[in-house]
Amino acid sequence: GKIHHHKFVVKSASFTRLCNTKEILTVNGKFPGPTLEAYKGDELIVTVYNRAKYNITLHWHGARQVRNPWSDGPEYITQCPIQPGRRFNYKITLTNEEGTIWWHAHSSWARATVHGALIIYPKHGSHYPFPKPHAEFPIILGEWWKKNVMKIPGDANITGGEPTLSAAFTINGEPGYMYPCSKAGTCVWVCVCVCVCVYASLRKILAQTGTFKMMVEQGKTYLFRIINAVLDENLFFAIAKHKLTIVGKDGCYLKPFTSDYLMITPGQTIDVLFEANQPPSHYSMASRAHSSAFGAGFDNTTATAIVEYHGIYHTPKSPHLSPLPPYNGTQASTDFTKQFRSPVKAPVPQKVDTHLFFTISVNLLNCSTDKPCAGPFGKRFAASMNNISFVNPPSLDILQAYYYGVAGVFERNFPRKPPNEFNYTAENLPANLLTPSFGTEVRVLEYNASVEIILQGTNVLAADNHPIHLHGYSFYVVGRGFGNFDPSKDPSRYNLVDPPEETTVGVPHNGWAAIRFRADNPGVWLLHCHIERHVTWGMGMVFLVKNGVSPQARILKPPRDLPRC
Ligand code: C2O
Ligand code: CU
Repeated sequence: GKIHHHKFVVKSASFTRLCNTKEILTVNGKFPGPTLEAYKGDELIVTVYNRAKYNITLHWHGARQVRNPWSDGPEYITQCPIQPGRRFNYKITLTNEEGTIWWHAHSSWARATVHGALIIYPKHGSHYPFPKPHAEFPIILGEWWKKNVMKIPGDANITGGEPTLSAAFTINGEPGYMYPCSKAGTCVWVCVCVCVCVYASLRKILAQTGTFKMMVEQGKTYLFRIINAVLDENLFFAIAKHKLTIVGKDGCYLKPFTSDYLMITPGQTIDVLFEANQPPSHYSMASRAHSSAFGAGFDNTTATAIVEYHGIYHTPKSPHLSPLPPYNGTQASTDFTKQFRSPVKAPVPQKVDTHLFFTISVNLLNCSTDKPCAGPFGKRFAASMNNISFVNPPSLDILQAYYYGVAGVFERNFPRKPPNEFNYTAENLPANLLTPSFGTEVRVLEYNASVEIILQGTNVLAADNHPIHLHGYSFYVVGRGFGNFDPSKDPSRYNLVDPPEETTVGVPHNGWAAIRFRADNPGVWLLHCHIERHVTWGMGMVFLVKNGVSPQARILKPPRDLPRC
């Protein structure tokens, strides 16, 4: 493979959205950030210069980083943050993945604006497992915040309160024409009057109008690489009057299927083929939250963009509208997700030697005297797995502590299963289930163990969808269901033939998901909910996968320029 060098300067830049101009954290002054491209087997070396006033790290979400946890990125898990004025070379070897993955900041809430697509084409000389599209585009579903996102998690951690919501969703950085304050009319009107706009400046003006627009040709097929980069919400996405053919997810291919809409959780990527097979016109592309945490606050705005056909036709006053499932459309979300399959028979571990069962909960805690409480009923929020609320170590990352044998940074007591069995998804669970302990606990896995994890959502406080992401691996989702996982019945219904390969799995609302993988990537790897407010409250844990015996089964040496704490 080829080696590609990139320079990423993390710095603040000023952007205007919703008639509000503010400084946001960016890479190279772009929002969304730059798209990286490579072929399978290539290597990326990304030199990150921190010219911001915050600590920063970057994560290559969906890249396995085989034997190289040093470049994985989560702050205080695999590295110390890059401090202002410093730099670090990330090395990403793309041996396993093909399709769309992405990169984002992995410190504080910086990923709200510091993110971008990472596209991996098939090896030179090989092809997509579908007809070659006429063209392809990344579609990044993001959001615009009025607040300084870097302040939110600190506040939420201190007060235990509900973090703020964003002001609007965006598609490729733009909230769309549903917002009255987009100034679209003004810019275009001035241009028409003056009549001196050359094409380039017209394009520039249109680029400021607040709506992302994509030009297509009738009869052609396009590949859209859709990324959910929002912090806290699952999203429904659709394009008016067009069906979408889903062909990939999280840098793995799927058996193609068609759908009128898609549901994508934070952290996931979905590749779709779009056939421009309708009469030439303007069609809307829309994304809106799918929330099943009934009663909890969420952003209920709709982001829009336009797919515009080339050609001569009567331009509609407003584009054809995309029908989206209702925000609480759990059925629509399930119907969509259950169609995921691997395109061929998958090498799923058929026998398991390491059985793990993790409960995933949002908790409400009594206040202690040293902590203010801004949660409901004068309490504070926390979140946990197996009743442990994960705390980042304060002064050294877990990977270095493990590699250099520094004691006192983490403990190895993350349990195989929750401390007590209960009816996880029942109504009105008793209060004694509501008190997690806090800790930096890891679970040790033997090299090459074949692992199954049942991720069990709970109704402690409130049930929710939790997109669970594992660093360093992809896994097979062999089963999903509502309610409590039933060990006597559910395993017999597993798909061990062609389950989808994913890196971020949506655990159903008040339900469970079963995943399997082989622990063949030694290192320190974070498992966490990709809903940022949940991980801020402690919904995560860490695996420590031991080295194998052969030299090819050991963690690589740390890079020389690894940031210091
Ligand atoms: Cu996409 Cu740990 O993150
Ligand atoms: Cu969650």
